[in-house]
Amino acid sequence: MSAPLLSVRGLRKEFAVGGLFSGGRGRVVAVDDVSFDLEAGETLGLVGESGCGKSTTGRLILRLVEPTAGSVRLRGQELSGLKPHAMISHRRDMQLIFQDPYSSLNPSMMVREIIGEPLQVHGVDTTPGIDRRVAELLALVGLGPQHMRRFPHEFSGGQRQRIGIARALALEPRLIICDEPVSALDVSVQAQTLNLLRRLQAQTGVGLLFISHDLMAVRYIAQRVAVMYLGRLVETAPTTVLFDAPLHPYTRALLDAVPAPEHGAAPRPLLEGELPSPLAPPSGCHFHPRCPFATARCAAEAPAVVEAAPGHGVACHHATTLPAWPGLSPALTHPVEPRLARLLARFHA
Ligand SMILES: Nc1ncnc2c1ncn2[C@@H]1O[C@H](COP(=O)(O)OP(=O)(O)OP(=O)(O)O)[C@@H](O)[C@H]1O
Ligand SMILES: [Mg+2]
Repeated sequence: MSAPLLSVRGLRKEFAVGGLFSGGRGRVVAVDDVSFDLEAGETLGLVGESGCGKSTTGRLILRLVEPTAGSVRLRGQELSGLKPHAMISHRRDMQLIFQDPYSSLNPSMMVREIIGEPLQVHGVDTTPGIDRRVAELLALVGLGPQHMRRFPHEFSGGQRQRIGIARALALEPRLIICDEPVSALDVSVQAQTLNLLRRLQAQTGVGLLFISHDLMAVRYIAQRVAVMYLGRLVETAPTTVLFDAPLHPYTRALLDAVPAPEHGAAPRPLLEGELPSPLAPPSGCHFHPRCPFATARCAAEAPAVVEAAPGHGVACHHATTLPAWPGLSPALTHPVEPRLARLLARFHA
């Protein structure tokens, strides 16, 4: 069997933090023993509350920050520990799309330079001319050659995100890390952008790591979902399994907390308590102080990830004895989703 496109094992990142107000130096374990695979042509959603370590995971994979420990393999090739010059050829294969399509584009560069720059930096042969290649990339994302000589401020947020996607595609990467790519866009533009990513993935076979706190966007685009809590993966499952039969109490709480404000539907009881400080995470299972099913064992011992079913990993001491999941709130299965579905059908990217 060939190696997966991306294989992450035991990834860990500690940041030294501290200063005037924190009473000295401390340490944040932003990413703690994270392991997963991602296949070519697949989208893996990575979800969890703010500060749980999603972006850091993406940045570790791209080696924008150095891991404290762990292994990242791209098509079987170990990237951890590679010297910068040895990383260059792998950088072409891995690209990043950011949340904010404005600040991620250089305001003083024309679209032609923004999209053409990675081609030039990597010395790609652009015969019969860079304009032709940039025009092809713009066409892929639904923009025209007339957009080449404009600056980022002359575009809408959704168009800017298309430019960011064209730029990410310029080097024909095998993996794109999408960090909250639709969070800054309104719902109809979100739908267009998600459709565009899906179409481009079908055309190119690129693997996507789709980082988002929007569970409904993840449900639409990802084939598998990994749920993160205070640096650790607590559950990983095929998307349909995760939404129909989540096991981890944290996953259930996240699904219960999805707001459906347009319909006046109150979410089910939200998570009890505050998100603990990552500077002093709770002992044992980090989720135990907020978990309705926690026992003494949960405070004492961190649960390992076990396979509840093939492809369904969960890190909970009580995963096999929890009451059945009552299902998604009706506010989510009915009024909201048809609206998103209608929008998605209407705006074919
Ligand atoms: N360079 C850094 N130095 C110190 N701490 C950091 C650094 N980068 C991230 N952290 C800390 O690591 C933890 C994880 O941050 P990260 O940005 O990965 O979270 P996130 O899940 O992407 O959050 P959000 O949803 O808000 O984007 C946080 O506690 C954050 O404060
Ligand atoms: Mg982030």
